[in-house]
Amino acid sequence: MNTSEPMLSMDNVSVEFTEDGGLLGISGESETVRAVNDVSLDLGEQETLTLIGESGCGKSTLGKTAIGAQKPTSGTVSYRGQDIWEARNGAGHVSIPFDEIRHSLQIIHQDPGSALNPNQRILTSLMLPLKQWYPDLSREEREERIHTLFERVGMSPPGDYLNRYPHQLSGGETQRAVLVRALLLNPDLILADEAISALDVSLRVEMMDLMLELQDLFQTSYLFISHDMSNARYIAEKSGGRIAVMYLGEIVEVGTVEAITENPQHPYTKALQWATANLYEDEGEEEFPLRKIDVPDPTNRPSGCHFHPRCPNAREVCQRQHPEQIHVGEETNYARCFRADENHEYWNSPEIPAESSEDAR
Ligand SMILES: Nc1ncnc2c1ncn2[C@@H]1O[C@H](COP(=O)(O)OP(=O)(O)OP(=O)(O)O)[C@@H](O)[C@H]1O
Ligand code: SF4
Ligand SMILES: [Mg+2]
Repeated sequence: MNTSEPMLSMDNVSVEFTEDGGLLGISGESETVRAVNDVSLDLGEQETLTLIGESGCGKSTLGKTAIGAQKPTSGTVSYRGQDIWEARNGAGHVSIPFDEIRHSLQIIHQDPGSALNPNQRILTSLMLPLKQWYPDLSREEREERIHTLFERVGMSPPGDYLNRYPHQLSGGETQRAVLVRALLLNPDLILADEAISALDVSLRVEMMDLMLELQDLFQTSYLFISHDMSNARYIAEKSGGRIAVMYLGEIVEVGTVEAITENPQHPYTKALQWATANLYEDEGEEEFPLRKIDVPDPTNRPSGCHFHPRCPNAREVCQRQHPEQIHVGEETNYARCFRADENHEYWNSPEIPAESSEDAR
C-alpha cells in the first residue's frame, strides 16, 4: 500500500444526467442536470467526512460516484491511487482489481430496507455477500461472523433476529442489520446515505455512537450524508472529522467541525446553521439569512456564483464570476465564496439591492 496516497480521491469530478424532456420525450427537447460539478475531495484512513445540503443538491450522486457505483461524466475517482473506472474497464496497468475496490467501498442506502430482500430471512440476506466475497469460509464460519456482529450491535440473542423477515424488524433494528451487512465485508469506506434520517431523534444519536464505536474496531472511513446540520455536527465532532457543504452540485465549503460551526465562510453554510435552531438557541439570530427560499432549477443554474440569487451578501461581481475554491485556515479547508479572499474585487463591487436579485440570472 502506498501510504502517501489518500484512501479515496476525487479529482474535478462532474456527473451529468440528460433526460428527454416532456412526457415520453415527445417534446423532443432534452434537459441536462449537472448533479455534481467539479468536486475535488480526498478521504483518509478512518476518516469521517459528512456531506450536507438541501434535497436534490447532489449528495447521493456524489456519494455513489465516490464508491464507484456511478460513473463520473468527467474527472477521476481513485482508490489507493488506482483509477476506479480504469480498473473496471481493465484499462492500462491495474494495480487493484475492480472487484476488490467494490468490496472495499460499501453503502448503507437512503432506504435501508432496500438492502434486505423482503422475501428472505435476515440470515440469508447476510450470508449471501459473505459467500460471494469469502467463498473459502464454511457455512458455520460465516454464521459465526454474523452472530458475533449481531451481539456487537446489541441484537442479542442473534438467532431471534436472524430468523426474522425484514418487516419483522423495527427501524432501528433494520439499520443495525444493514450496518452489520456492510461491516461483514470489512470495508475501508462506508457510504452512509441518510442512514439515520428515518429514525427517532433518540435512536439517531444511539446509531451514530454505534457507527463510531465500530469505526474504531473496523478501521473504516465514513462518508456520512445528511440534510441535517445537527446530525452532521454531532458525528463530525465525535469523530474529529470534516464537514462538506454542498449546493447545486458543488462543494461550497469544506472544513473541520470547528471551522464550519464557529467560523463559517460561505453564506450558505451560515444559512444552514441558522435553519438548525438548536445551534443558535443562545445567540438569538434574528434575520432570515437568505434572499429567497426557493432552490433554483438545477437544469438552469444561475450565472456566476450559483448561490447569488439567494445570497444576502451578493454583489454585482457575483452575478458574472464563478468563485473557485479559496483555501481558508487549515490546508484541507476551503470555501467557494469571494468573501474568503480579502483581496478579491468583490469588496469594491456594488451591492445588489434585494429586489433585483431575482433578475440577476
Ligand atoms: N439517475 C438520475 N437521472 C436523472 N437525474 C438524476 C438521477 N439521479 C439524480 N438525478 C438528479 O440529480 C440531482 C441530484 O440528485 P441527488 O439524488 O444526488 O440529490 P440529493 O442531494 O441526494 O437529494 P436528497 O437529499 O433528496 O436525497 C437532482 O436534480 C436529481 O433529480
Ligand atoms: S460569491 Fe458572492 S453570491 Fe456567492 S456566496 Fe459569496 S458573496 Fe454570496
Ligand atoms: Mg439523496
